[in-house]
Amino acid sequence: MSKLPDPFREGLARGWKATHGEQGLPSQIECDVAIVGTGAGAGITAELLTRAGLDVVLIEEGPLRTSSDFNQKESEAYRTLYQESAARRTLDGAISIMQGRCVGGTTVINWTSSFRTPPATLAYWEQYFGLKDYTPKTIQITDGVGSAGRGTAYIRRYNPKVDSQPLDQYNRFIAISSSCMHLGCPVQYVTASQRFICPCHGGVYDFVGKVVGGPPVRPLDRFYTRVAAGTVFIGPRFSVNSELERFSPRDPGEALDGVGQYLYPSRPTMRKLPNT
Ligand SMILES: Cc1cc2nc3c(=O)[nH]c(=O)nc-3n(C[C@H](O)[C@H](O)[C@H](O)COP(=O)(O)OP(=O)(O)OC[C@H]3O[C@@H](n4cnc5c(N)ncnc54)[C@H](O)[C@@H]3O)c2cc1C
Ligand code: FES
Repeated sequence: MSKLPDPFREGLARGWKATHGEQGLPSQIECDVAIVGTGAGAGITAELLTRAGLDVVLIEEGPLRTSSDFNQKESEAYRTLYQESAARRTLDGAISIMQGRCVGGTTVINWTSSFRTPPATLAYWEQYFGLKDYTPKTIQITDGVGSAGRGTAYIRRYNPKVDSQPLDQYNRFIAISSSCMHLGCPVQYVTASQRFICPCHGGVYDFVGKVVGGPPVRPLDRFYTRVAAGTVFIGPRFSVNSELERFSPRDPGEALDGVGQYLYPSRPTMRKLPNT
């Protein structure tokens, strides 16, 4: 048994209100907001709503298990803390889905790694979900591949040895977006392999941003660039197909080859670009 302090048990001892199936649920609960689930999303939502003065109830289908219950035995933990005893899968059985089923949800079973939200993710939330306070926008150019916005876009000079598309006024510098074209996670450029790697589901792109492995459906998006008075300006984003031909910007997951370009028209709210 864990010797760590157990805030749940201590809280219950202090008079937290908790009820569960084994105790018999009340027939009626009154509240301002009922949140289904008690995981990471539910937790922060409950905290914000409670701070705003609302009466919040969290409803969890799994049991309340605290550090006092943990005994290092996976055979018990999978059964009591995971959805479907850790055997949950997609309908076709191809992909395992690890998810918690207990008070605290997946936060109880995760590895507790904690990273500052990458700028590229903030940029994605800003672009697609209206987040207003995105900040980092500095530009650094280094030999070979540099980064703008520390991961928002990777910038390098046009190189006729690797860049097959004709040189024009918008591509003297190539600016490659760091949003993965599978689901939009931030990719990182790995110098040693000259590849862009997405840690989320193993997406891999080559030096020019073409997909060479994993689930992404098209090459990494790019930004128009222009050089004026010795300064590189980064313009609107555009999407590219596997030949790196320009298209108006698409969302992640939308293919641009073959019928893909017709099946996935650019969203009406997206700025249309000439000749794309
Ligand atoms: C093994 C593993 C390791 C991980 N490691 C990390 C890490 O190190 N760092 C990190 O940041 N992230 C990590 N994650 C991811 C992170 O834990 C999850 O993304 C996050 O907890 C998901 O939060 P959520 O609120 O969306 O859902 P969950 O936390 O899964 O919460 C959903 C809750 O809703 C409950 N529920 C579902 N349906 C119902 C219903 N009908 N009625 C009542 N209750 C219901 C479930 O039982 C569950 O408790 C890891 C995930 C796993 C599986
Ligand atoms: S989001 Fe990049 S591989 Fe899935």
